[in-house]
Amino acid sequence: GAPVRVDVSKIESGTMITAEWQGKPVWVLRRTPQNLQSLDKPDHRDKLLDPDSEVNQQPEYAKKSYRSIRDDIFVAVGVCTHLGCVPNYEPEGMKGVEHALFFCPCHGSKFDLAGRVFKGVPAPTNLIIPPHQYLDNSILEIG
Ligand code: FES
Repeated sequence: GAPVRVDVSKIESGTMITAEWQGKPVWVLRRTPQNLQSLDKPDHRDKLLDPDSEVNQQPEYAKKSYRSIRDDIFVAVGVCTHLGCVPNYEPEGMKGVEHALFFCPCHGSKFDLAGRVFKGVPAPTNLIIPPHQYLDNSILEIG
């Protein structure tokens, strides 16, 4: 399919838009500084199945803890790696999780704001990061 372009300058901090690429939802989230801090905490990493994304679910340029090109902008295929439901963005966290996350309503898988799966949920891998690049300071091209 054709690449899809998104103007990320229109996305406010802490909010997310959903684009469509190859028939799939692709999330574009602008993370807050607090979001980024919580991704790095050792006690957070301990809760993750694959904190360093060793299972190849992203392009090489996104193989770092934030799993993104720009620190603030997170781009991911919004499809649960268990059985393909679309997780919800929970900016306020939820019971037992004090920070923002993605929660899959089908069988309860949880992913952090880098799309990394928590231990002890059905999803076996981190969310998929699609190929993407920036054409300038605002325009993101997915695909
Ligand atoms: Fe998401 Fe099963 S499809 S937890």
